[in-house]
Amino acid sequence: MSGAPFQLSPLAAAHDRTLFDCGSPPLNRYLREHATQDIRRRVAACFVASPDGQRIAGYYTLASASLLLVDLPAVVGKKLPRYPTVPAVRMGRLAVDQAFKGQGLGGALLADALTRAARAEIAAYALVVDAKDEPAAQFYRHHGFVALPEAPRTLFLPLATIELLPVPGRHPGQSQGR
Ligand SMILES: CC(C)(COP(=O)(O)OP(=O)(O)OC[C@H]1O[C@@H](n2cnc3c(N)ncnc32)[C@H](O)[C@@H]1OP(=O)(O)O)[C@@H](O)C(=O)NCCC(=O)NCCS
Repeated sequence: MSGAPFQLSPLAAAHDRTLFDCGSPPLNRYLREHATQDIRRRVAACFVASPDGQRIAGYYTLASASLLLVDLPAVVGKKLPRYPTVPAVRMGRLAVDQAFKGQGLGGALLADALTRAARAEIAAYALVVDAKDEPAAQFYRHHGFVALPEAPRTLFLPLATIELLPVPGRHPGQSQGR
């Protein structure tokens, strides 16, 4: 990696999706074959980190979601209104190309996702993720996510938490656009 800051922006035609390899074939295939269609159908938004406006070093997707109030840990649920569901934003996918792993980009993408979800005008209580395996769940727990008691691979982080995160400019990624 050059050490230059990444551009974090919505996936666009200029981005080359063919070379991306995070080591997980389903996550590579999603970016290559399905992301654009999901964006067009408005079922997901996709954001990428790029060192040069073309190569994709990492990506994540966001879509609106909801959590059942009864699924949240009791200590959290009792502080929320008694509606059956709690609004949330789902980060459906998060992946970093193998050439860029272990350099803080995954954390920067996560911070960018939290920032975008928190500044949206439509309210959401938390960012929610479905970890694909135990290492992924560990990554999210490392960043403060809490597992649902009955579904440990589904984890959430209240968006109020982002006030505690470092300022985005201090991450390797630099947010661009919405
Ligand atoms: C998980 C993934 C996104 C992490 O990306 P990355 O750029 O290598 O991670 P970072 O370098 O930003 O690591 C950020 C922090 O998380 C920690 N971390 C990374 N992977 C971790 C893991 N599996 N368990 C616990 N902590 C982890 C790092 O030690 C680092 O800690 P620090 O900030 O205290 O130094 C990346 O490994 C990946 O794309 N994996 C394959 C796809 C995947 O599993 N996606 C998860 C969503 S289902």
